[in-house]
Amino acid sequence: MHFIPEDIDNYVVAHSENEPELLQQLNRETYQKILQPRMLSGHYQGRVLSMISKLVNPKNILEIGTYTGYSTLCLAEGMQVNGELHTIDINEELQDFSQKYFDKSDYKNQIFQHLGDALEIIPKLDKTFDLVFIDADKENYSNYFNAIIDKLNTGGIILSDNVLWSGKVLDTTFKKEDTSTPALIAFNALLKNDKRVETVVLPIRDGLTISRKL
Ligand SMILES: C[S@@+](CC[C@H](N)C(=O)[O-])C[C@H]1O[C@@H](n2cnc3c(N)ncnc32)[C@H](O)[C@@H]1O
Repeated sequence: MHFIPEDIDNYVVAHSENEPELLQQLNRETYQKILQPRMLSGHYQGRVLSMISKLVNPKNILEIGTYTGYSTLCLAEGMQVNGELHTIDINEELQDFSQKYFDKSDYKNQIFQHLGDALEIIPKLDKTFDLVFIDADKENYSNYFNAIIDKLNTGGIILSDNVLWSGKVLDTTFKKEDTSTPALIAFNALLKNDKRVETVVLPIRDGLTISRKL
């Protein structure tokens, strides 16, 4: 979904950083071989993630929702040389695919994949983080926030994807079987009201929230 007119969107992309070659390959192969390729962050949002990571210059990064590893590699671009990026996904069919690209990258010794339910894995990670990217099942976004907030260093950043959910967060008449929309509405309210973070919502792609721990 475009939140700004498509020609302006195209202009924005044309005047932003190009997509690195390895990420172009990953993007293409995901669209050729993997189900639901639209889940991948893509060129423009990927450059936004890379830029934010470079500004934060995190030591440790946590990503919830690896998929094919596109956003992982974007976030890794800003990581410190002695840093670690821990990325979690429940779908084991994607692991070899993403690992192939991690191995081709400059960060192959710094990226650690975890397979399983993020809510079970996060409590077992004996680390603190400077940057967290929440991009898995929408129903659990609030649970992910609660699971990571005490592992986030002061000044640390949480990025949350899809927070506008194609605009459906405005809809109070969502269908009973739609569990994602009410979960995202509750999550957006949680971030706005939680006194441990300050939050801004950016209308980038499907909505990207930046929250900073106070
Ligand atoms: C939107 S995709 C992530 C896209 C990726 N961050 C990117 O930008 O390229 C969401 C991923 O979350 C994973 N996922 C869903 N529920 C999960 C859970 N409970 N624990 C861990 N991963 C989960 C899915 O398997 C899927 O690969």
